[in-house]
Amino acid sequence: MLQSNLLRGERVGLTAVTPTDLPVLTKWWSDADFLRLYDSVPAYPKTEAQLAKRIEEGQKGDTTFLFGIRPLSTNDLLGLLELDGVMWSHGTSFVSIAIGEAENRGKGYGREAMQLALEFAFRELNLHRVCLTVFSYNLAAINLYESLGFIREGIYREHLQRDGQRHDMILYGQLHDEWLQIVDG
Ligand SMILES: CC(C)(COP(=O)(O)OP(=O)(O)OC[C@H]1O[C@@H](n2cnc3c(N)ncnc32)[C@H](O)[C@@H]1OP(=O)(O)O)[C@@H](O)C(=O)NCCC(=O)NCCS
Repeated sequence: MLQSNLLRGERVGLTAVTPTDLPVLTKWWSDADFLRLYDSVPAYPKTEAQLAKRIEEGQKGDTTFLFGIRPLSTNDLLGLLELDGVMWSHGTSFVSIAIGEAENRGKGYGREAMQLALEFAFRELNLHRVCLTVFSYNLAAINLYESLGFIREGIYREHLQRDGQRHDMILYGQLHDEWLQIVDG
């Protein structure tokens, strides 16, 4: 039987990102703390036009699937979730997640959104493997991924330099069978 709750959790859903989200996204992309957790490129603000282009690219649905994370009850944008770099011939993808405002973190939204992303990746796209990278100083993200069953697969040693220190970037992955064992128990 088809499952009815694809893209919808108990509190959040994975939705389209629209031009009305641009002011919120521009705010996040002006927050250096957010940018330094999310990306290794220089923490440099983006304009609405640049983000609009990024969203359009992300939502093409060929090798990238970008979602907005929203509460089920309102249209507020809590965060972004993206499956990208999908290689159909191998059944693999990268995944990334961000909850934009610090005050919305630690409330369980990230966990639920990532669980929905894995459902989408393994049950809808029928992928074999999903992987991600995270910076060694991002303990919240590392805890989230490990608690969802991602396996630490490798370390890009001293991959970043920030505030005069070098930091590792860690690679995590989860296979379809491993995910099935977690969700089916
Ligand atoms: C990382 C992130 C996505 C986690 O989402 P979240 O909604 O804050 O996390 P949740 O509330 O769902 O918590 C899930 C788990 O993550 C871990 N976690 C979350 N916040 C944490 C914190 N401040 N310190 C340590 N662990 C934390 C815990 O294991 C937690 O499980 P628990 O509540 O059972 O202990 C979010 O903090 C975020 O978007 N940060 C900024 C951008 C970013 O870092 N993106 C990831 C780049 S790799």
